[in-house]
Amino acid sequence: MTDPAQPVDLYRVFGNPVHHSQSPWIHQAFARETGQTLVYETCEAPLDDFAGVLRAFIAQGGRGANVTVPFKEEAYALCDVLSPRARQAGAVNTLQLGKNGQLYGDNTDGVGLVRDLTQNHGQTLAGKRLLVLGAGGASRGVIAPLLAEQPAQLHIANRTAAKAEALAAHFESLGSVSGGGWSSLSDCDVQAAARYDVVINATAASLSGELPPLPDTLFTPEAMAYDMMYGAMPTIFLQWASSQGAITADGLGMLVEQAAESFFLWRHQRPQTDAVIKALRQRLN
Ligand code: ATR
Repeated sequence: MTDPAQPVDLYRVFGNPVHHSQSPWIHQAFARETGQTLVYETCEAPLDDFAGVLRAFIAQGGRGANVTVPFKEEAYALCDVLSPRARQAGAVNTLQLGKNGQLYGDNTDGVGLVRDLTQNHGQTLAGKRLLVLGAGGASRGVIAPLLAEQPAQLHIANRTAAKAEALAAHFESLGSVSGGGWSSLSDCDVQAAARYDVVINATAASLSGELPPLPDTLFTPEAMAYDMMYGAMPTIFLQWASSQGAITADGLGMLVEQAAESFFLWRHQRPQTDAVIKALRQRLN
């Protein structure tokens, strides 16, 4: 039972646009499962005043928030204290208000991806050859947690080669990581050993229904193709990967797992994710 004299803890997800966000539904499912009561709302912040909207939320007594596109880097800059994960990502997707009034920033995207790959899809990343497509914010947020799994190699391929090279250089102290343009993938044409075990699409290409120019010899047998996007229909990348014989997964599990980690940071209880992933899949279909 909740005490009517006690205000209910308030959380929000900030983004623009954000009306499509499944986060309120996911966090209410976690709250039900763990027997907690909280309010979780979407908030579309104006592109030029995320800081003002966040200040108002803090003044109103907000306890924590998720941050999505395009405010993750701005949220990073506004925090008083940053977790090592947020520092590595250069972006914040989870905010928490400390009792001392300080704003704490963390990033749960990478751990969400790794948990989805390893726990929900049974992948072992240690010793494997990983390929990340794209070198924007979505890619940057997951490189360090992927390297922490100790893959044999992580290659970043991007339309703009220089961005992939710069991203790889940024993370080179953490493991075996390289970067290049689409042409840097042509090695796998000649060498079977240079194919990839796990290929993660972190580009925005799926949004416009475009397929990056990938060689037909990209995947090892039993490779997994993962698209960070999710929806009722498989993305064009997953359709192509499936036609190449790869096992496929979309980013719905990552969405739920990053939310579970945020919930754990705020509420100190780790929700079960399996049933929530299944129910969310049905909800979207
Ligand atoms: P996000 O924060 O979602 O990663 P971003 O920083 O704009 O967004 O990065 C988008 C990524 O998708 C980039 O790697 C971009 O490639 P460029 O660096 O060359 O711009 C990639 N991307 C976007 N549209 C694409 C397309 N049609 N084909 C291939 N890559 C695409």
